[in-house]
Amino acid sequence: MPTTLITGGTVVSSTGRAEADVLIDGETIAAVLAPGSALLGHDLKSSVDTVLDAAGKYVIPGGIDAHTHMQMPFGGTEASDTFETGTRAAAWGGTTTIVDFAIQKYGERVMDALQSWHEKADGECAIDYGFHQIIGDVNDDSLKAMEGLIGEGVSSYKMFMAYPGVFYSDDAQIYKAMRVGADTGLMTMMHAENGPAIDAMVAELLAQGKTDPYYHGVARAWQMEEEATHRAIMLANLTGAPLYVVHVSAKQAVAQLAAARSNGQNVFGETCPQYLYLSLEDQLGAPGFEGAKWVCSTPLRSKQEHHQDHMWQALRTNELQMVSTDHCPFCMKGQKDMGVGDFSKIPNGIGGVEHRMNLLYQGVVDGRISLERWVEITSTTPARMFGMYGRKGAITPGADADVVIYDPAGHTSIGLEKTHHMNMDYSAWEGFEIDGHVDTVLSRGRVIVDGDQYLGSKTHGRFLRRDPSQYLI
Ligand code: URP
Ligand code: ZN
Ligand code: ZN
Repeated sequence: MPTTLITGGTVVSSTGRAEADVLIDGETIAAVLAPGSALLGHDLKSSVDTVLDAAGKYVIPGGIDAHTHMQMPFGGTEASDTFETGTRAAAWGGTTTIVDFAIQKYGERVMDALQSWHEKADGECAIDYGFHQIIGDVNDDSLKAMEGLIGEGVSSYKMFMAYPGVFYSDDAQIYKAMRVGADTGLMTMMHAENGPAIDAMVAELLAQGKTDPYYHGVARAWQMEEEATHRAIMLANLTGAPLYVVHVSAKQAVAQLAAARSNGQNVFGETCPQYLYLSLEDQLGAPGFEGAKWVCSTPLRSKQEHHQDHMWQALRTNELQMVSTDHCPFCMKGQKDMGVGDFSKIPNGIGGVEHRMNLLYQGVVDGRISLERWVEITSTTPARMFGMYGRKGAITPGADADVVIYDPAGHTSIGLEKTHHMNMDYSAWEGFEIDGHVDTVLSRGRVIVDGDQYLGSKTHGRFLRRDPSQYLI
């Protein structure tokens, strides 16, 4: 087995940091040692196959993005990143694991849907990947199939309180699915927005001639998110299901989660970089049709109401536990432009799988979160939350050698389409300057990014069977 020594760096975990060398044997971490250590009398530097110099740099566990949608059929089109392009872009940005969503459409059987997602991803991924199961059609057959998901290595499922006629589940369906979630130990993930009320408001706005992308944000008001979050929490409380609310963007929804957590309920929340940095006024309200670039659900929130500052604060106080991207990219040409003259026809989604680690590191530079919290919310907690800890999310003996060497003295300019690796004809993050840089990325012991060189391959990534969550209170 090839051996690698990462030497001279500062190894950062969710609980602390230390100068240490990291010894990798094949695909796993063999030891974390005092700098310059010898092992059984052998000078390590001269006895390993590869030495990676990390002097002056941080050595962190590879990022885990637990919410992506590669090649997702949605909004009359398909998300523009395939598993191949999307996982390669993730690797460039220091993310070494994704958890994507297998979709059970209306009328389809759950296990058939899961199988078809395996077929899309198998042999196409640069990094390891797992699946959450979307339940888009709750019926007796799907409820039965849910009982078999953990056996398939899929320990979480997602439901939608939004998108009537597409993925929407009503309260009775949610109640029934959560009963199975509670009994089996599956984590229930929820898209919490009141879909039927949103659709009524969309129709009103369009009838008034309010067709610009900005009105996507108006229709999906924070009240729609707070109400649905509260309802999901109550149904979870009643059934005993653990609940994870995805893409939280409204400060009022955070308050609902915080209240439930302080009551001792197993309730968790994720936010995404777009809700930390972007706004209804500046991005969705951009002139002409430009705002379409940032149409996603939940929507970007008002900066006048300070939702963004509140999301950072909630990450600090653990009212929100982690950050995923909800990577769901669409090109402006041929995809987003389907909604010219009618915002409700703009496919919902933002691409960002490549930028999450950098964008969150900027939060460290700006003094919003600590270095350790950066590692926790981007890697360690996702691993614990979704049953990967031990293999992923920490640099510890026996874990997969998914490691990023991050240079705090480096710089990353996020520019136009040509400077990123996602399959998009624009960047939602154009103009962002990051005071840090992903230098080297290892996935299971193999260097897949080395400076400006990509050394990975689409056959390297493996399906990751996940256990039930290790994050319950
Ligand atoms: O706008 C979004 N979030 N698109 C992806 C689908 C979803 O709701 O997560
Ligand atoms: Zn969603
Ligand atoms: Zn999503």
